[in-house]
Amino acid sequence: MVSAFTKGIARSRVSLVGAMVVTAVFPFLFGAILYDLTAHIDNTYMAALIYMILGPAFIGGLVLVFLGLFFFKGKEEVRLFTMDYLRDFFTDPTKFNKMRKLVFFAVFLTGVNIFIMGLLAYRGYHYMESNGFCGQFCHTVMNPEYTAYQNSPHSRVNCVECHIGSGATWFVKSKISGARQLAAVAFGTYPRPIETPVHGLRPARDTCEECHRPEKFHGDKLVIRDKFLDDEENTHVQSVLLMKIGSAGDRTTSAHGIHWHVAPENKIIYKAADWQRTVIPEVVLQQADGTEKVFRTRTDSEIEHADVREMDCIDCHNRPTHIYLPPGRAIDNKILEGKIPSEIPFIKKKAMEVVQKEYATQDEARTRIATDLTAWYKQNYPEIGRDNPEKLQKAITGIQEAYSENVFPEMKIEWNTYTNHIGHTEDFDFSIGCLRCHNDMHETESGEVISMDCDTCHLVLAQDEEDPEVLRTLGGGY
Ligand code: HEC
Ligand code: HEC
Ligand code: HEC
Ligand code: HEC
Ligand code: HEC
Repeated sequence: MVSAFTKGIARSRVSLVGAMVVTAVFPFLFGAILYDLTAHIDNTYMAALIYMILGPAFIGGLVLVFLGLFFFKGKEEVRLFTMDYLRDFFTDPTKFNKMRKLVFFAVFLTGVNIFIMGLLAYRGYHYMESNGFCGQFCHTVMNPEYTAYQNSPHSRVNCVECHIGSGATWFVKSKISGARQLAAVAFGTYPRPIETPVHGLRPARDTCEECHRPEKFHGDKLVIRDKFLDDEENTHVQSVLLMKIGSAGDRTTSAHGIHWHVAPENKIIYKAADWQRTVIPEVVLQQADGTEKVFRTRTDSEIEHADVREMDCIDCHNRPTHIYLPPGRAIDNKILEGKIPSEIPFIKKKAMEVVQKEYATQDEARTRIATDLTAWYKQNYPEIGRDNPEKLQKAITGIQEAYSENVFPEMKIEWNTYTNHIGHTEDFDFSIGCLRCHNDMHETESGEVISMDCDTCHLVLAQDEEDPEVLRTLGGGY
């Protein structure tokens, strides 16, 4: 019986090809899956080979074997698996005895196959949901997002938890758009930089609130921003803010402060005049008691191409994890961490100059940052390169890092390509962040405005001060 089965395969070319594929792939696939289950394969290309090439090849081979047995039997009739043949076997007791072996064999094979396919589906699903697959597989395209993500507070949250979330609908949607994106990568037609805001993003309330509950936020938060000036001493100054984080309100507190916007009883619907959602001519506040306030900078007839959207977390936290810093902040952070020694004269100023030049690639940037700085210090402060070459080298490394963590010329991501809506820019650019709405210009018919009063959002306890008094009062060595 078993031999009839193998004969059947041998007589059909289609089955034969299938059987060869299955036999060739099986040991590698089985070994690799077992290895992945026990030791976990970290290399994303290795995993792609297993789950996107070997896995489908194995399944394809099996399909060929059975197609061949049933439909492409070759010239000689094997009479295997035809209805007549099966009827014979089931009615004739002597033949039925033989049949049992076949059934046993088939059940055994099917068992092995189901086991392998189960493993394939299980591990393959996990692989497709892994950060490696999302962040590294299309390396050049995702490198900026993946780099910024790894340096962010969410570096342990999987991409899929924000980008897909739970439930089958968004899983299917993501696989469809994923297939489109793979094609775009294969043909090189993806946009550089990837355009934001991501208009098809799942509403943030479904994803962020799996972990965060603004109803349970409370109180104010002390925020200290360290800065270094561009004088010879790189003078260290600090701003100290008391952020009114507030709460979205629950049984014990009513909604107040910054997270008042996401309270269940407050619905804010705004119209954006541009695709980037930076120009907001109309904001409507609907409250649970039925009152509605309409704040406008322009009348309806003046608003063209309005995109209507209900405000959620992402309208402020548009960069919760892909946080690209502006150049000043990036360099300040490195000085603060000690990666750029602040004793080097004018290092802040020179760093700002070199990182803001245009380079074609990150490699070119690294090389030129090093040569430019070495040359400048050799000419102006020769003693540094002479007495303390390691210190200068350390600074150069820090500056190169500040650049390569935030600027990706290959994807056309320059400084400030992806602006962050949290807050407002240092130069009070009115079109950015909170001030898109909070600019004293959005007015109701009765003359109420969305406030730009500094104390609405925070108390400014110190602004760019050396050794601010408030921090001395608090003590604790800030
Ligand atoms: C904490 C939630 C969160 C996690 C985790 C996360 N993302 Fe995002 N991502 C976002 C949000 C929010 C946006 C939308 C930004 C916008 O619309 O301006 C975004 C945007 C993007 C974009 C569009 C370009 C850009 O920079 O805005 C890409 C690409 C992307 N994410 C890839 C990834 C990859 C790859 C991972 C995992 C390595 C990941 N994301 C993890 C929240 C997240
Ligand atoms: C899977 C859970 C998870 C999801 C989903 C998630 N976060 Fe977080 N988030 C965290 C954790 C954990 C932290 C604290 C990280 C830390 O302090 O090390 C955090 C921190 C934050 C912080 C504070 C960051 C800081 O600088 O201290 C903000 C703001 C934030 N998340 C916003 C968001 C937004 C917006 C989304 C949705 C796009 C989101 N999170 C989705 C788990 C999550
Ligand atoms: C109106 C803008 C705005 C909206 C809408 C908003 N946030 Fe925030 N959120 C802020 C600001 C501003 C901060 C303080 C940032 C800082 O620390 O500098 C903050 C802080 C946070 C923090 C850190 C809290 C802490 O105590 O450190 C988390 C977590 C967070 N937000 C999550 C969310 C989630 C989830 C949503 C959506 C349900 C949301 N936020 C909606 C503006 C907003
Ligand atoms: C609608 C809310 C809002 C208003 C109005 C507002 N701010 Fe802010 N401000 C913020 C937020 C949010 C941040 C960001 C905090 C952070 O970076 O985490 C910020 C940051 C700052 C910083 C620190 C910036 C830095 O990086 O050095 C200063 C200083 C500041 N604001 C001053 C002011 C002053 C002065 C006014 C009044 C003219 C004002 N703000 C009005 C919300 C507001
Ligand atoms: C899409 C428009 C919009 C954006 C963007 C926006 N806000 Fe608001 N905000 C409003 C409206 C509308 C009100 C209510 C004004 C009123 O009723 O007087 C408000 C009120 C507030 C209040 C007062 C809440 C209370 O207790 O009554 C705070 C604080 C605040 N916003 C902070 C921020 C901060 C910080 C940001 C940026 C991170 C921000 N807002 C971004 C529309 C916006």
